[in-house]
Amino acid sequence: MDSSKKKRTVKPIAILFLAAVAVLITLQLFNPSLEGKPVAKKIEAPREVLAILENSCFNCHSNKQNLSWYDKIAPISWAVNKDVKRAKEVLNFSEWNYSAGEHQGKMYAILNMMQSGKMPLHEYTLLHPSAKITQKDIETIRKYTLSLASLNAPKKEKDPHQNVQNSVPAKFPVSPNGVKYTDDFKNWKVISMSTLFDHSIRVIYGNDTAVKAVETENFHPWPDGSIIVKSVWKQEELADGEVRAGAFVNAQFMVKDAKKYTDTEGWGFAKFSGNDLHPTGKTASFARESCIACHRQLAEKTGYLFDVPMKVNTERLIKNLEK
Ligand code: HEC
Ligand code: HEC
Repeated sequence: MDSSKKKRTVKPIAILFLAAVAVLITLQLFNPSLEGKPVAKKIEAPREVLAILENSCFNCHSNKQNLSWYDKIAPISWAVNKDVKRAKEVLNFSEWNYSAGEHQGKMYAILNMMQSGKMPLHEYTLLHPSAKITQKDIETIRKYTLSLASLNAPKKEKDPHQNVQNSVPAKFPVSPNGVKYTDDFKNWKVISMSTLFDHSIRVIYGNDTAVKAVETENFHPWPDGSIIVKSVWKQEELADGEVRAGAFVNAQFMVKDAKKYTDTEGWGFAKFSGNDLHPTGKTASFARESCIACHRQLAEKTGYLFDVPMKVNTERLIKNLEK
């Protein structure tokens, strides 16, 4: 009698199990594998740095995936493929065709993501605990990144007072995504300032709409028409130890238009560099591939802007950098 009871309860479970297996098998029919592209140019860095990146990052950010069997089974594989595709779009250690300056910028981005605990992705380390990074790993990456900064230390400029005011081209440039350069921002309010170990000084300006949003703490989301400009200069160190703004490096724009910039969270990003203010990006997709990837990960709570509200965020940034 006992055994017949057991049989009856076991059956539905067995059927459910078989059904689940059948569904899983069917899903495999819709399971495109990641096409493996050859490694074009691998990142160059000291061995201990490469070891960390290879162990914790390469599975998503390179052409050499070394995935576990369960990553290749649908539906997990769908999520994994999507992450890998997106990850390679923004950062690919197998296609590292960067100048020394760009390499430094990428390393800074990497350090930033690791320090803030955003990378490697949390969902990923749950299933791949060996990819977790340690405090020591972060320290290794930090030391290396800082060493790059001192290699690229500012050289003495011929004219340290040269800046954007006296050197703008006759016609203002336009970024590939339609954001126009304007030097109106020099009349706007300064909402923040920052500096980094790359020996720069950054001043962040907001137009009236943005400043009003800050004052009324009404930036969830930021109102359309808000414009934020970050103007970056090299630090010039005078003989007496005073540090001031030297040569102009670039001006970075964020223009809020929720309808126009749908694939970058409503922000039109642009960067205009050097005295000729040449815009960054060959096509409009540059902002989706770089700018927003970082701003989305690290500044989501403040509507994708870092320096606002300035007190909260600059403090956290400084803390992160001092870690
Ligand atoms: C499971 C896959 C996965 C792993 C592992 C992973 N990443 Fe990412 N990473 C992503 C995805 C997806 C994005 C894009 C995020 C977005 O657009 O919001 C990204 C974005 C980034 C960015 C932003 C790129 C930019 O232009 O600023 C950096 C930097 C980064 N990852 C560094 C790392 C580092 C360093 C590691 C290893 C310690 C790592 N990632 C491990 C999936 C991954
Ligand atoms: C690696 C991460 C990262 C990437 C990639 C990135 N930014 Fe930022 N951005 C920051 C951080 C951190 C700050 C705050 C510190 C500062 O002001 O320098 C910031 C600040 C800014 C600001 C000032 C407003 C604010 O959010 O505080 C603008 C404007 C800006 N970035 C534009 C851009 C543009 C345009 C690009 C792409 C060409 C870009 N950013 C790419 C990290 C990033």
